[in-house]
Order: sequence, then structure tokens, then C-alpha cells
Amino acid sequence: MNGLIPNRLLEGKVAIVTGGASGFGESTVRLFAKHGAKVVITDVQDELGLSLCNDLVSRFGDNVVYVHCDVTQDSDVRNVVDTAVSVFGKLDIMFNNAGIPGNLDFTIVDADNENFKRVFDVNVFGSFLGAKHAARVMIPRKSGVILFTSSVASVVSGESPHAYTVSKHAVVGLMKNLCVELGQHGIRVNSISPGSISTPLVTNIMGLEKSMVDEIVCASAVLKGVVPMANDVAEAALYLASDASKYVTGVNLMVDGGYSTTNQTYSRVVKQTFETLARK
Ligand SMILES: NC(=O)c1ccc[n+]([C@@H]2O[C@H](COP(=O)([O-])OP(=O)(O)OC[C@H]3O[C@@H](n4cnc5c(N)ncnc54)[C@H](O)[C@@H]3O)[C@@H](O)[C@H]2O)c1
Repeated sequence: MNGLIPNRLLEGKVAIVTGGASGFGESTVRLFAKHGAKVVITDVQDELGLSLCNDLVSRFGDNVVYVHCDVTQDSDVRNVVDTAVSVFGKLDIMFNNAGIPGNLDFTIVDADNENFKRVFDVNVFGSFLGAKHAARVMIPRKSGVILFTSSVASVVSGESPHAYTVSKHAVVGLMKNLCVELGQHGIRVNSISPGSISTPLVTNIMGLEKSMVDEIVCASAVLKGVVPMANDVAEAALYLASDASKYVTGVNLMVDGGYSTTNQTYSRVVKQTFETLARK
């Protein structure tokens, strides 16, 4: 960090993080608080959220609160935004991060219709509601930052179930449309697209230990020598939430170690073919 950048990049800012009790949300809440932000943690996992909140209150005082919020419920999202304004006076940063993977339905014929609707409800409608209520209080102040967590599945096809992939494309579409509309009001809108990182979302759906998921991620990575962590996404969120990115809007920032730049299937098959020929 050079001398021009203050150590606390979010001093005086007020942020809401949805899905803030676990994974990327939890790391972001911790990092935002460390950088001087007043943070409203929201989630449906109240026990986890409250315990994180208590931990942070013991270190940063009353600058952190927890509010239950199911992002699919308009009244919950409205309440959380209104709470941020009533407790901390304003809302500067809305991080629409909550998301679910849904079932591992890889074939369209066998895909479960209710699962598709549920994934959309949380990942897309939840993000829409977060943006809508944030914009309501940001527009009059002519400033603010709205962030979304999308996924590498927004640019790489065929590796995630249909519902999840489509939902994450939709999040990027929403981000870009909002960038245009809300730019008129001085509000920046961006998304972050992580590659696979061993949060509870991934370990639970794969049914594997964190260390095993890390091994798989590292073996398939383009960028070697790095074990990606939830904090890498938090650092991207910090950059996009802070004034360090004051002219950055409409960007889907890949945090995937370059995974989405390439498709190594062809070269892998060529290599395997030559290895097979050499053995004959
Ligand atoms: N971990 C990865 O590899 C990865 C990669 C790309 C994108 N993502 C996305 O990152 C985001 C965060 O996921 P994570 O990996 O930190 O997983 P996580 O499961 O650790 O955290 C997600 C949080 O969202 C909460 N949540 C779920 N449904 C909710 C609802 N209806 N209302 C409010 N909160 C709800 C969960 O309770 C949980 O605390 C998600 O949008 C996910 O799709 C994850």
C-alpha cells in the first residue's frame, strides 16, 4: 500500500452484506469492519450471524449489527436497508452476496423445476430486491456502491448446473443494466465473479473436506502457487466498495486466478494422445 492510500479504506462508510454470516460474506464483513466501515450483517443463519457480530462488536464497538434477512422477502430487505439508515444514518455500500448452488442437476431432462425457481428466487430476485431498496436510499444522496456476487459460471459454461449458471448470468445482466440507470445518480454498480473457493457452500455440496476441495481447485488452476481463500473475494469487494475504484462501474471482476481465460480440454487430450502413442 503506498502513502497516498489511507489504511482504512472505508472510514465512515455504511455497508450491508447479505449472506454475511458465512464464506465470502463473513470475510467481507470482517475486512470492511477492519477498514472502518459500519456494517450491517444480514443472513438467514441467525446463530452464525449473531456470533460473528458479537465477535466484531468486542473489537470495533457498536459499529456492527446483525439483522435477520431472507433476501427473497421484500419486507426483510426493506427492513435491513431502513435499519442501516436509522442506526447508522445512511447507506453507502450494498453487497448482494447471498446465494445458493441449488441441486446438482446437470441434465435438463432430469432437472427439478422447483429447484430452478428456488435458485432464481435467491440468486436473482434476492439481488434485485437488494439493489432496489439500496437504490431507494442512495438515489436522493446521489452516491453509493452496489455490488453483487456472481460467479465464474457467468462466463464459463457447462461446469455448473443450469439453474445456477443462468442465475449468475442474470446477476451480471442486472449489474450492467443498473450501471447505466444508476450512473445517472452517481451510483457505481459492479459484480465479482469468483472461481471455485472452498467455502461451506462448496464443501457442503461436494461433501468433501476443505483440504480436498483446495487440492481439486489448485490442480485445475491456471495460476499456480496460490490457494484461493474467501478473503480474496473480500479484498475485491473492498476495492470495488472503496473510493480506490471511484471511476469503475459496470465491471464483472473475475477473481478466478485466470481460470476463465482458457479451456485446456484440447491440449489435455492432445497430451494424453501423445502419451498413449508413446506407450505403444
Ligand atoms: N464458493 C465458491 O466457490 C463460489 C464461487 C462463485 C460464486 N459464489 C457465490 O458466492 C456467494 C457466497 O457464497 P459462499 O461461497 O460464501 O457460500 P456460503 O454458503 O458460505 O455463504 C452464503 C450465505 O448466504 C446465505 N443465504 C442463503 N440463502 C439466503 C437467503 N435466502 N437470504 C439470505 N441469506 C441467504 C447462507 O445462509 C450463507 O450464510 C454466493 O452468491 C455464491 O453463489 C461462490
